[in-house]
Amino acid sequence: MSSNSENPSQRYTKSIAAHERRSRVIAGGVNSNVRLMSRPVPLTFTRAHGAMIWDIDGNEYIDYAAGMGPTILGHNHPRVLAAVQQALQSGQCFAGQHELEAEFAERLIGAVPWIENIRIGLAGSDMDLLAVRIAKAVTGRSKVLRFTGHYHGWIDPLLVGPGAAPTPFGTPPVGPGQSVAAASEIVMCEWNDVSLVEQVFAAHQIACVIMEPIMCNTGVIPAQPGYIESVKALCKQHGAVLVIDEVITGFRVGLQGAQGHLGITGDITLYAKAIASGYPMAAIGTSRELMAGVGRGEVNHSGTYNSGYLSVAAAVETMKILVEENPYPSLQKNTVRLVEGLRKVGGGKGLAVDYVAGSLFQVRFGSQEPMQNREHFVKNSDPQKLMKFLDALQDRGVRPTSRGLFFVSVSHDERLIDRTLEITESALASM
Ligand SMILES: Cc1ncc(COP(=O)(O)O)c(C=O)c1O
Repeated sequence: MSSNSENPSQRYTKSIAAHERRSRVIAGGVNSNVRLMSRPVPLTFTRAHGAMIWDIDGNEYIDYAAGMGPTILGHNHPRVLAAVQQALQSGQCFAGQHELEAEFAERLIGAVPWIENIRIGLAGSDMDLLAVRIAKAVTGRSKVLRFTGHYHGWIDPLLVGPGAAPTPFGTPPVGPGQSVAAASEIVMCEWNDVSLVEQVFAAHQIACVIMEPIMCNTGVIPAQPGYIESVKALCKQHGAVLVIDEVITGFRVGLQGAQGHLGITGDITLYAKAIASGYPMAAIGTSRELMAGVGRGEVNHSGTYNSGYLSVAAAVETMKILVEENPYPSLQKNTVRLVEGLRKVGGGKGLAVDYVAGSLFQVRFGSQEPMQNREHFVKNSDPQKLMKFLDALQDRGVRPTSRGLFFVSVSHDERLIDRTLEITESALASM
């Protein structure tokens, strides 16, 4: 493990030079705005393996960013690598069908019995767009209810302005260049309050309600007991579609995602990230009835790279491993070991750890009480302190995401977790 944490300014010399070079030709030096948040500059990485990742300066990190969630099996799992290498021999892009598509679909439907029909896409954002399009098509309505703090991709109309306040009766703010007209179809409210959802249904003709079943994009916050069931009942009563965005939780909280864990089911389920171990693939799953318009070509879903051969090969192998090896109990055990360890070493210093289930959690500095919604989270989080902590962790060789979300993979064994706890103690002591 790299040891020049005492001299952070020299630790990132090559990354700083690489960032300067990139910034001359690539906007902001990154290819996803989320990466702009990295410090001291967006780092440049050279390779990753298992639970580890290395940057261009030769610094080694225990990687809890995990590709922002996809690498649940660790980087470069040998079986996934072998499947992709084999697929590589056959070609990449057929502009046509291949047999792995059906194999993936059958395996997904086999694992998640409330899904009858799927489509495969490239990214979570694609699938969010398609879900909303299907809901609007089948209901003939245009309004979408979504919740503050949840994230459903970077597309219009689902992305609404940063820090959007709950506005059950108004149009949420939109970012520069985004469609105000599209945003006028979004109705937004704070999560975990059924009465707000009732008010929205009373005031608007809602095509669909979209939510993360466990909010993972502003902290990690569970739904209150009975909340999703109540929202589902309201959807049913008003003829709206319930879209469950499992882009983070799918295959991470368990094979059946957060819905399996919670014992609830939506009408449409969205997957990306962990389904293909880091290869670009996403999927939407729903009933034959809701998917019929897509199948007839009336509801448009297109894409040159959809169901690329390598990605589907990776997804099929990932699914086989998850089913055959069932890593979930040990993943959960190791995650809990880390969560409890962090609470022990950090609790006295104001570090709070928000954990619900599966192999991801959020760290923040603030009240230890369970968070309810975005507003509650913002009031109970000290972003400056978190940034200092994340810097200190990174300088010592631990890399969570740049907003303090940790993803644990099967490669994070007890030794690495205990090493993470030692590094955390040292990072906290340095602040
Ligand atoms: C819940 C959720 N939905 C959708 C997306 C968008 O997925 P992608 O970045 O693959 O477009 C994300 C991305 O983090 C997400 O967390």
